[in-house]
Formats: sequence, structure tokens, C-alpha cells
Amino acid sequence: MSSAALSVAKEAAAETTPPSSAAERGGAPLANVSLEINGRTYPLALDPRTTLLDALREHVGLTGTKKGCDHGQCGACTVLVDGRRVLSCLTLALMADGESVTTIEGLAGPDGALHPMQQAFIDKDAFQCGYCTPGQIMSAVACVEEGHANTDAEIREYMSGNLCRCAAYPNIVAAINQAKHELKRA
Ligand code: FES
Ligand code: FES
Repeated sequence: MSSAALSVAKEAAAETTPPSSAAERGGAPLANVSLEINGRTYPLALDPRTTLLDALREHVGLTGTKKGCDHGQCGACTVLVDGRRVLSCLTLALMADGESVTTIEGLAGPDGALHPMQQAFIDKDAFQCGYCTPGQIMSAVACVEEGHANTDAEIREYMSGNLCRCAAYPNIVAAINQAKHELKRA
């Protein structure tokens, strides 16, 4: 192989080899983090820049939480941290260390019975493609628990951070109205 060809081959190899050291990753050593997700503890070693969304999807394998915009604008990545809704694409995994994270996979009961909000979304046909639905449901659960589901207008206001490209909004409001009565009875 000519020296020019050898040089090109070396450059190609360097481009496809994943970084193995902290220096190659830009000087960020891995950080140990313990995430409590849906009642189970996951000890992880993560690049400290890893978002909670990527930790859930890429490191823990919980892909129910969706990545839409990855910029805090669509709500598809909504999860609950200590009962409070957060955008997991804008939250570092390290920030959730030691806190209780609930994802869409954690809503159903141990026997597999759907959460009243999940059932209401089915009953009211509150989705079409379904991509926004996990985030909508997590946000809807928090909306009710916050006491922000008293009127249709209030529901729309407090769900306004969750976008739906399929425009299932009227059905989502109907689903929240159904579930809030069941949650109050529970
Ligand atoms: S993916 Fe997080 S707000 Fe869109
Ligand atoms: S159901 Fe398709 S984006 Fe909401």
C-alpha cells in the first residue's frame, strides 16, 4: 500500500473507532449515577452530559419515553421526577440521581392493569400515530394531580407544552376529563 493510501486508511479507521478514553470523549470522565426508575434502582456509569432521556432510552432500555424535538419544545419526552413533570431531553441524568423517576412503563399496576389515564386515552380515542402519547399521558397524570384539570380551558392551558402533530387535542381533553373523575374516586 502506498504511503498516501495508508494515511487515508488510518484516517478512516480513526473516524469509525468510538472514543475509549475520557480525553477522547472531550475530557469528560464517566460519572456514577443511581437512577430509581419505576421503583427499580439502576446503577449506571454515564458521560455526565447524558440527558435523562438518553439514559432512559439508550442505557436502561426504556423506550416508551419518546424523543421528538430534543430541544424542550414538544413535550414528547415528559416523565415525572418525584411526581413533578419534567422534560427529560432538557434534564441531565445526574440531576435525577437519587430521585424517583416515573415513565410511561411505570404507570400500569403490577398486575398489568392500565392506569386510569391510559385507559381513558384508549376509551376516548385520544391518539392517532401515538408518538406524542406517552408524553401526553405523563403530563396529563401530573395535570390532574396538580389540580389543573378543573375546566376544559384549564386542561388546554396546562397541557399546552405537549404538542400533537395529529391534532388529537379534543380527544385528549375528553380523556383527561374521564380520568380525573376516576382518579378522584380512587
Ligand atoms: S423531545 Fe423533549 S421537549 Fe421535545
Ligand atoms: S397522536 Fe400523532 S403526534 Fe399525537
